[in-house]
Amino acid sequence: MARLASLVLYLLGATLAYARPCTLRASGGDDGPAFTKAVLSSSCPTVMVPAGTNLSIATKMNMTGLRNKHISVQGIVSFTSSVSHWITSDGAFLIPFQNQSTFWLLGGSNVTLDGGGTLNGNGQVWYDAFASNSSLVRPIVLTVFQGNDVKIQNIHITQSPEWNNLVWQSTNVLYDNISINAQSTSSHSAKNTDGWNVYQSDSVTIQNSVIVNGDDCVAFKPNATNVLVQNLSCTGSHGISVGSLGQFPGVFDIVENVLAKNITMKDAQNGARIKCWAGSNVGSGIVKNVTFEGFVESNVDNPVVIDQCYMTSASECSKFPSNTLIQDIIFSDITGASSGSGGAEVASLACSPGGRCSNITVTGLSLTCSAPGHSTATYDCSNVVLSGSSASLFGTCSTT
Ligand SMILES: *[C@@H]1O[C@H](CO)[C@@H](O)[C@H](O)[C@H]1NC(C)=O
Ligand SMILES: *[C@@H]1O[C@H](CO)[C@@H](O)[C@H](O)[C@H]1NC(C)=O
Ligand SMILES: *[C@@H]1O[C@H](CO)[C@@H](O)[C@H](O)[C@H]1NC(C)=O
Ligand SMILES: *[C@@H]1O[C@H](CO)[C@@H](O)[C@H](O)[C@H]1NC(C)=O
Ligand SMILES: *[C@@H]1O[C@H](CO)[C@@H](O)[C@H](O)[C@H]1NC(C)=O
Ligand SMILES: *[C@@H]1O[C@H](CO)[C@@H](O)[C@H](O)[C@H]1NC(C)=O
Ligand SMILES: *[C@@H]1O[C@H](CO)[C@@H](O)[C@H](O)[C@H]1NC(C)=O
Ligand SMILES: *[C@@H]1O[C@H](CO)[C@@H](O)[C@H](O)[C@H]1NC(C)=O
Ligand SMILES: *[C@@H]1O[C@H](CO)[C@@H](O)[C@H](O)[C@H]1NC(C)=O
Ligand SMILES: *[C@@H]1O[C@H](CO)[C@@H](O)[C@H](O)[C@H]1NC(C)=O
Ligand SMILES: *[C@@H]1O[C@H](CO)[C@@H](O)[C@H](O)[C@H]1NC(C)=O
Repeated sequence: MARLASLVLYLLGATLAYARPCTLRASGGDDGPAFTKAVLSSSCPTVMVPAGTNLSIATKMNMTGLRNKHISVQGIVSFTSSVSHWITSDGAFLIPFQNQSTFWLLGGSNVTLDGGGTLNGNGQVWYDAFASNSSLVRPIVLTVFQGNDVKIQNIHITQSPEWNNLVWQSTNVLYDNISINAQSTSSHSAKNTDGWNVYQSDSVTIQNSVIVNGDDCVAFKPNATNVLVQNLSCTGSHGISVGSLGQFPGVFDIVENVLAKNITMKDAQNGARIKCWAGSNVGSGIVKNVTFEGFVESNVDNPVVIDQCYMTSASECSKFPSNTLIQDIIFSDITGASSGSGGAEVASLACSPGGRCSNITVTGLSLTCSAPGHSTATYDCSNVVLSGSSASLFGTCSTT
């Protein structure tokens, strides 16, 4: 009987432990270890940072290999502004790709991060420090690493020191209803604050989000496949970008099956862009089946861009055309106005010589130029045969 009672109590306890979230409170010190411990604990399927709680994270957080985990951030998760700590070898996690680092690795299967709260990167000190140290390695706020079935939703990210999000070696990742605000309050701008970079990952969706930042809104890096980006409002960014690809000798880069649709792009450097390296000592790859559809752009320097001679002079590019092929690309229903910073040109599809771009379709392009003296927008192309209802806007493409 006693045994049965204790079994009942045990089961009840287990059920209660299962149902009740493990709740974190600010300790006044570094909350990183306690947050990480709770999330890694198998007796905490749900971990909550309640509203009104402001966790201070002073050390990197490794939350990988999770299973069936729900992290509900209703309050704030704040990363300390101790640049000198984060750049030491014990500081942020180093990521070999483009010499990046990150405060936080999140991975495993069936992981949800939501709650309506805020991840605060405290980037101001980084923006200011970067102005006098251009090699400063600034951490990415959140990296989804080796994740499968990961959902990040209803989260604000403020003042990321550098990229806001990296998706790396992951599959089936959804970002929904994220607001990103990386703006500097000093004269040093919030550089390289990409909204998302998708790298070596498959089946990623990014949707219904508002981004105010200072670099790519979303970038598709090497081996980003089956990516859907929709319903985004991007302000101040460098656009929705494929690449740059094919940079490193001996490395093959793939970006395939990407759809970016219903994007509002304001005050940006680029709208829809693909860039691939050319030149004598670069890599190779393929960009295939990428569609940019329904972009409404205002005050954008370069609304539509293919640059397959990225960082390469015209003469060098004709000698060493890009080994990163571009195929089956659609630019559809791209409307609005360029800033006119590049003169009258509103679209530039510049391919490497020798048939490196094929099956490029342009339809429903209607762009104006708001710069004085450039009332007639121009559409330029080289080394490519365009199809689609807007092809005639481009006239005959030059060849080199
Ligand atoms: C949260 O704490 C950080 C310091 O860790 C501070 O910079 C930030 O202003 C705090 N946020 C709020 C809303 O109190
Ligand atoms: C993160 O933790 C896992 C599990 O302990 C470990 O295998 C992995 O090496 C850690 N990752 C890093 C980058 O420290
Ligand atoms: C996913 O994890 C949640 C806990 O966060 C759990 O309730 C749910 O049952 C899990 N789903 C599957 C398919 O295991
Ligand atoms: C990483 O940094 C090293 C040393 O500063 C530099 O030589 C290398 O080119 C960088 N790699 C990338 C991918 O930027
Ligand atoms: C500049 O940044 C690099 C990389 O983070 C770091 O190693 C170096 O110490 C910094 N230099 C100074 C003067 O802070
Ligand atoms: C989006 O997230 C915010 C909190 O970050 C929340 O207030 C809002 O209700 C969410 N919107 C939807 C449609 O879920
Ligand atoms: C895009 O946004 C609209 C309006 O907010 C919404 O009705 C639609 O469901 C969204 N699309 C997706 C795929 O969430
Ligand atoms: C496009 O996205 C915006 C949000 O940025 C949304 O309000 C609008 O309803 C969406 N339109 C469609 C057709 O999904
Ligand atoms: C991309 O995938 C291909 C095919 O699996 C592989 O050969 C290549 O090394 C990968 N490239 C990168 C940068 O991961
Ligand atoms: C092209 O990409 C889209 C969007 O990811 C996908 O739905 C479609 O199946 C792809 N087409 C082919 C032929 O793979
Ligand atoms: C051209 O590209 C589009 C978009 O990916 C694709 O649907 C179509 O099948 C391609 N056409 C040819 C002839 O490959």
